Amino acid sequence: MTRSVLVVGANRGIGEAVAREFVRAGDRVAGTHRGSGVAVDGVFGVKLDLVDAGRVADAVAEVTAHQGAPEVVVLNAGLTRDGLLARMPEEHYREIIEVTQLGTFRVVQRVLPAMAKARTGSIVLVSSASARAGSPGQANYAAAKAALEGFARSVALEYGRRGVRINVVAPGPVDTDMVAVLTDEQRQALIDQVPLGRLARPEEVAEVVRWVAGSTYVTGATIPVTGGGALGW
Ligand SMILES: NC(=O)c1ccc[n+]([C@@H]2O[C@H](COP(=O)([O-])OP(=O)(O)OC[C@H]3O[C@@H](n4cnc5c(N)ncnc54)[C@H](OP(=O)(O)O)[C@@H]3O)[C@@H](O)[C@H]2O)c1
Repeated sequence: MTRSVLVVGANRGIGEAVAREFVRAGDRVAGTHRGSGVAVDGVFGVKLDLVDAGRVADAVAEVTAHQGAPEVVVLNAGLTRDGLLARMPEEHYREIIEVTQLGTFRVVQRVLPAMAKARTGSIVLVSSASARAGSPGQANYAAAKAALEGFARSVALEYGRRGVRINVVAPGPVDTDMVAVLTDEQRQALIDQVPLGRLARPEEVAEVVRWVAGSTYVTGATIPVTGGGALGW
């Protein structure tokens, strides 16, 4: 049975791979972007900047009108504003919290009523291994991602009886634009921490997202996709 899937942040990187994965599975897929459009064939593009709280309802309504209320929602959008804490401007902290936490809250709150009414739904939040392992220079990012886990567990408890599941996927370093901005030395330092000895490909995260989204008895869980890194969380 095809599902109505919404991928937030589908225009590049992991989100684009996730959108492609659901298209390949035969689902009806919508993906958000901030003006670039979405390049994956068969994906319905919807403009959404998570900072724009007032736009979320309209974006979800556009998806619903096009392909039915979202039954699977992947919150993949994310960003970094790295810096040592002593010199981190409050604005850089606030921006990460705004997009990661409030953005997630806004979208999840908007899609849940239809899922609860239909007594089925699956939400996947893309976090990061640094949420538990910590990451120097990323106090803002790690804190915001860690909060997603508490959020997901609470929603899992609130909505389990209504047939809605929510899970977190926590990747280690993935070969996308987010890592491309690092120096060769920083990139190698990341790889050195991974027992599999390489970065993940976006598709390797996407297949886990698709799997957990379609599972039937997993909820409130955090699934590491770290190549063996950050063991012993
Ligand atoms: N790459 C890694 O090593 C890694 C590791 C662990 C976790 N993650 C997480 O995986 C997710 C995807 O990362 P990626 O590596 O694919 O990053 P990416 O290539 O930098 O893509 C980030 C995505 O988030 C979107 N986005 C950023 N700010 C947004 C906002 N205010 N509203 C809506 N969308 C926004 C971007 O849209 P624009 O193109 O418009 O900017 C883009 O679609 C993120 O949550 C990231 O934290 C990545």
